[in-house]
Amino acid sequence: MSSYDVIVIGSGPGGYVCAIRCAQLGLKTACVEGRETLGGTCLNIGCIPSKALLHASHQLHEAEHNFAKMGLKGKSPSVDWTQMQAYKTDVIGQNTKGIEFLFKKNKIDWLKGWGSIPEAGKVKVSDEVHEAKHIIIASGSEPSSLPGIEIDQKIVVDSEGALSLPKIPKKMVVIGAGVIGLELGSVYARLGSEVKVIEFLDHITPGMDAEVSKVFQRTLKKQGLEFIMGAAVQKVDATKTKAKVTYKLRKDDSEAAVDADVVLVATGRKPYTDGLGLEALGVKISDRGQIEVDGQYRTSVEGVMAIGDAIKGPMLAHKAEDEGMAAAEVAAGKHGHVNYGVIPGVIYTHPEVSTVGETEESLKEAGRAYKVGKFSFMGNGRAKANFAGDGFVKLLADKETDRILGAHIIGPMAGDLIHEVCVAMEFGASAEDLALTCHAHPTYSEAVREAALACGDGPIHS
Ligand code: NAI
Repeated sequence: MSSYDVIVIGSGPGGYVCAIRCAQLGLKTACVEGRETLGGTCLNIGCIPSKALLHASHQLHEAEHNFAKMGLKGKSPSVDWTQMQAYKTDVIGQNTKGIEFLFKKNKIDWLKGWGSIPEAGKVKVSDEVHEAKHIIIASGSEPSSLPGIEIDQKIVVDSEGALSLPKIPKKMVVIGAGVIGLELGSVYARLGSEVKVIEFLDHITPGMDAEVSKVFQRTLKKQGLEFIMGAAVQKVDATKTKAKVTYKLRKDDSEAAVDADVVLVATGRKPYTDGLGLEALGVKISDRGQIEVDGQYRTSVEGVMAIGDAIKGPMLAHKAEDEGMAAAEVAAGKHGHVNYGVIPGVIYTHPEVSTVGETEESLKEAGRAYKVGKFSFMGNGRAKANFAGDGFVKLLADKETDRILGAHIIGPMAGDLIHEVCVAMEFGASAEDLALTCHAHPTYSEAVREAALACGDGPIHS
């Protein structure tokens, strides 16, 4: 039996970051991981591999649509799917090995196997029991399918299966126009699949600023994705080679069906806490399956904490990372803090979409007076040069104080641009603070400044 200050269960972005921070704070730390490689869903079957496929398929799109315009002539590249998969596997390997290196560097023990908590202060991994003053659960989440729909990872797949299809399907049906459905739907549409997205609601990406959501859907339509909106999927009949997806339109209850070679079910995720023994231990779980924690990530059982997708809040790798660092501080006897008002969200399609803080809808609902500063990438020189003029930056600021309340971007590098607004919000900045900050020319970030100027006396380039 080994004894630790902290044992973290799970090595995804929440868990591995937490373990590293614990070690940096001088705590003797171990991390339990049953997968063959570290990094959890994000590095192995989520964020990282999907970004590799998004990158590769975007390059193809550029070659097919924009190269000739710049005088780059010749045959468009053809897709070698086996090689694209090998590239994706290599990217995963580089990242997961990187975490292994960081564990060694920080003297963190990797306890290989699936962990459970037989009693407070003890973690069982395979047949060995280890002691820990603090146990931090970072067990993540898993896809949640629809009732009656069986995921076989061949014809009916979830996000994991969709990353490793044996071939590019001719026809793909995506159930759910959320982040996963749209990112992976984009990948296959660019690679030549006919992609139909079936969405229960009347708009895509629930929770997103409505104006951005509309423009985003229009852009994806132009890229060839077809949308069936306001439709509740009833069933999926799959054979060994094909599937039929039956849905009911909410407006008139009429039923229809579409055929597919592959069906991607992307209707959300749920916390993954199987096998941890939480019920017997007495850890409180909410109706939604989330581990209940207080403001310092402590569960109802002393010495047991939880972070990331397994607790409440958006299921985002970076939210889990921040909670991991905060929980490590708490375990080290310090005070951990996450500012939940400034957690960005990014969709890595092309153009990218990013969001932080309040939306117009949430501000209206709260009855707050606000102003909007908007700037189109059409007025940004760099974007025009790079065929990236579609989209805009929208900044929301308090009508009286000018304090920035939120930002919503659709356009080039939106996922990176959002962070200057995040930093500004962390410092309680006003739109004028952003507008008075010198931005290098020519950069996409000038569009953020122009949106800030639009909250005041007006942008220069529109
Ligand atoms: P999601 O919750 O984002 O979207 C699911 C969609 O499915 C919703 O629009 C919902 O209305 C629809 N839906 C549900 N039942 C349906 C039915 N019967 N028929 C038709 N449509 C139906 O879930 P998603 O995309 O699976 O993502 C899961 C989690 O993973 C999210 O929390 C997301 O934030 C996270 N994620 C984040 C990424 C990123 O930050 N780039 C990438 C991938 C996942």
